Amino acid sequence: MVGDERNGKVRSITCVSAESLVGRPLGNYLVDHFLEETKKTWFYQGRHPRLRIDIGLKVLRPGSSDDKAQCLNEEAYNLTRLKHSNIVRVYDIGTYEGLSFVVLELVKGRNLRKFLDELKASKKTISLYDILNTTSTTLDALDYARKEGIPHTDVKPENIMVKENGNFGRCTKRV
Ligand SMILES: Nc1ncnc2c1ncn2[C@@H]1O[C@H](COP(=O)(O)OP(=O)(O)OP(=O)(O)O)[C@@H](O)[C@H]1O
Ligand SMILES: [Mg+2]
Repeated sequence: MVGDERNGKVRSITCVSAESLVGRPLGNYLVDHFLEETKKTWFYQGRHPRLRIDIGLKVLRPGSSDDKAQCLNEEAYNLTRLKHSNIVRVYDIGTYEGLSFVVLELVKGRNLRKFLDELKASKKTISLYDILNTTSTTLDALDYARKEGIPHTDVKPENIMVKENGNFGRCTKRV
């Protein structure tokens, strides 16, 4: 990583790649391993070393505009107001050496897009009961957010997590 130092303050960090953060501290947290990336962010499994819990770390890509950092923070702030068993909890926000990040409840599993791709590739099926049950769980979370005045504005398979045990759940925000 290379810091861009002006007036004695580190203003931005250039990370060579998402992998370059692995093993490093990010504020009070440790970056354990890289999970995935989008156009906007890098997502990691991280750890709070003193509380000894695994957490999700969503890091805004270096070089993102201040507007994007502000959006990330606003989104996290909105999430703190939602308390629902199928909406991820947000624990903290921070900036470390120019990188803006959000600390989230870690959902062990994969997003619905990957889940469906894997299902198709393996030629397996899921029961109608599971489809209806899990869809209604997701809709319940979306309905709750809407009623709280914080509608999800980007509902798509990439923003819905399927837990390891196969249960759907946990909309990954964008509120
Ligand atoms: N709490 C979480 N636990 C585990 N994995 C997560 C969690 N939140 C998100 N992910 C994974 O990381 C990916 C990227 O996260 P997210 O959708 O929040 O970021 P983004 O797509 O960059 O931003 P946005 O959806 O707000 O435009 C998701 O598609 C999902 O696979
Ligand atoms: Mg997303």
